[in-house]
Amino acid sequence: MRQADQRPTIAILGAGLIGVGWAALFQHHGADVRVWDPESEALVALPARLKAPLAQLAQVAPDAGPAGRLTVCDTLAEAVAGAALIQENAPESIAVKHALYGEVEPLMDTDAILASSTSALTWSDLSPGLNDPARLITAHPFNPPHLVPLVEIYGPDDARVARAEAIYRFAGRVPVRLKKDATGHIANRLASALWREAVFMVQDGIADVEAIDAALVNGPGLRWSVLGAHMAYHLGGGAGGMEGYLAHLGPSQERRWAALGAPTLGEDVQAALVAGVAREAAGRDIAQLEAIRDAALIAALKARKEAPNV
Ligand SMILES: NC(=O)c1ccc[n+]([C@@H]2O[C@H](COP(=O)([O-])OP(=O)(O)OC[C@H]3O[C@@H](n4cnc5c(N)ncnc54)[C@H](O)[C@@H]3O)[C@@H](O)[C@H]2O)c1
Repeated sequence: MRQADQRPTIAILGAGLIGVGWAALFQHHGADVRVWDPESEALVALPARLKAPLAQLAQVAPDAGPAGRLTVCDTLAEAVAGAALIQENAPESIAVKHALYGEVEPLMDTDAILASSTSALTWSDLSPGLNDPARLITAHPFNPPHLVPLVEIYGPDDARVARAEAIYRFAGRVPVRLKKDATGHIANRLASALWREAVFMVQDGIADVEAIDAALVNGPGLRWSVLGAHMAYHLGGGAGGMEGYLAHLGPSQERRWAALGAPTLGEDVQAALVAGVAREAAGRDIAQLEAIRDAALIAALKARKEAPNV
């Protein structure tokens, strides 16, 4: 059983898609959560928007203990005061985030962590928004943040990063640390590399959108959910492991890399992508597709508890 003093106080700044997911996650795991958004409609809508993720978390993490308290804050100061972690989920704009950091910094505790959920901005882009840049880390979740366990972290202050990792673990996340600042962190770089080739195959006429997605989900995607890219090739080498794989298939791997494409997002390619996902969606709207995705993710997360990844 957790002690009350082990419950961190978390400020969630920006209650859009990602902020709502973080708020639900931390509340479910017993944290004291304060949510602020400059748009009052976002705060008014918050209780209703929390219902579905909280219900999903009850399925995924039924043993999390008593839920924490969630406070909707009228002011930034109310949200930030005394928070150990301030998770920033403002729109993806350097100017917006810098302006926000300028307001947050004087309000935050000296040891508090300001963590940006940014998808594609870097710590170097964002840290000039603070007088003391060491207070900032990037902590990128994968959507939906209350279901997908990954949080990718970069920050120059090891002690702050370690404190942040402990808080994300408290909320059942799997933090992964970057050794240096990189656009797209780790996972979005991997996702972008994969999608570049998926788009190239459409542009080059190798296969249709639906065939490419079916190949991914029923092949490597399934394997990647239990085995990382490198470990997959360690096993691909049989008894010889990675060394055997590199000796046997390393040269063919270099030929495969050389055959990969660099697509452009011209009008014809965009039209092919839009038409392709429309065929794949087969009349299901975004809300229906999200519900199917979330149900499958919950089932997969439960299965992983019984059969953990390698
Ligand atoms: N959407 C994704 O898949 C995804 C995944 C991972 C990370 N992110 C990152 O999370 C952040 C938020 O993205 P989102 O998809 O939730 O956007 P969103 O548009 O759904 O929500 C943004 C919220 O920020 C609020 N906001 C506006 N100005 C603000 C300010 N100055 N300070 C605080 N809040 C402000 C808006 O009112 C809105 O509620 C971005 O940095 C994005 O890159 C997004």
